[in-house]
Amino acid sequence: MKITVATNAGFCFGVKRATDRLEEALAQARAGETIATLGHLIHNESYNEGLRRRGVLTVSDSDLPALAAGANAEHPVTVLVRAHGCTKETEELLNRYAAENPYFRPIDCTCPYVKKIHRIAKENSAPDKVLLLIGSETHPEVVGILSWFEGEKYVFPDAQTLNLALMPNGAVRIDKKTPVMVAQTTLNLVNWNECQKKLKSIYTNAIIFDTICSVTETRQNEAVLMSRNVDMMVVIGGKNSSNTNKLYLTAKRNLAETYLAENTTELPLDRLRPHMKVGITAGASTPSGIIEEVKHIMENLIDTVSAGEDFEGMLEQSLKTISTGETIKGTITGISSGEI
Ligand code: F3S
Repeated sequence: MKITVATNAGFCFGVKRATDRLEEALAQARAGETIATLGHLIHNESYNEGLRRRGVLTVSDSDLPALAAGANAEHPVTVLVRAHGCTKETEELLNRYAAENPYFRPIDCTCPYVKKIHRIAKENSAPDKVLLLIGSETHPEVVGILSWFEGEKYVFPDAQTLNLALMPNGAVRIDKKTPVMVAQTTLNLVNWNECQKKLKSIYTNAIIFDTICSVTETRQNEAVLMSRNVDMMVVIGGKNSSNTNKLYLTAKRNLAETYLAENTTELPLDRLRPHMKVGITAGASTPSGIIEEVKHIMENLIDTVSAGEDFEGMLEQSLKTISTGETIKGTITGISSGEI
């Protein structure tokens, strides 16, 4: 079996930057300090569980007033804004709390690519412009971007719904206004190209900002190529991660044997056969340790089968659940300050 890992699998620049800043905050934390993230820092349950074990709190906007009020010399509070960013109102609130209380410290980990869309939305806010944002309405990144635009604004998930809304009797009335279109950073490329074609065909005055993150674009192109050249593909990442799901659907379009796994317990090991070509890719919020572990488990399983051992028996072994206090023998694929 040949296993290939995509060059761009795993943490993207923005997620790495956010997780590095959290590690820095944890390393510098004083006794009694509360470290919290505004929402989950990344969409990966294994990673988030690791943070919980290290005492990092996940808080929401409604927790901020109490956290800021309780911050003092003995119990300072640090709150990290994740790579998706937050709303304009939340950013202003965090800055106000920090100005009023020196023991309350926000750390803005918003990805620069997302910040750029905030700026576009802010700079284009005008009564004679209409913002068309292509993305998932409830995604925190989209909610954040919308808050920076003052004026008429709409969100559409795809070219089809955009088309319907722009029809003469549709929901959007552009009239003499100028449509301004931006995309969620992780939007599917095919979808975005269709939206651009549609808007340009109706409004020659449309202003379009290509805001898909280049990391997403490269990763999706790589997934397309890989899915054409392997027998099975495994996409590793959180089920609630937007870019992971898009990667999965992109690959699945070419290759029916494409599977989504959040961690090693969800691997489709029963589908593996010797001499298969397997491709592994991963979403932007998948830690490299999990990718290594997946590759290692698959290689081990097939090596043992090739050496003449029983496939089903090996499969059973590889799915073994480890309990606290148990002594096990294995290969270390990653070490961080809180776990192995
Ligand atoms: Fe930023 Fe792109 Fe990652 S927008 S968070 S570098 S997927």
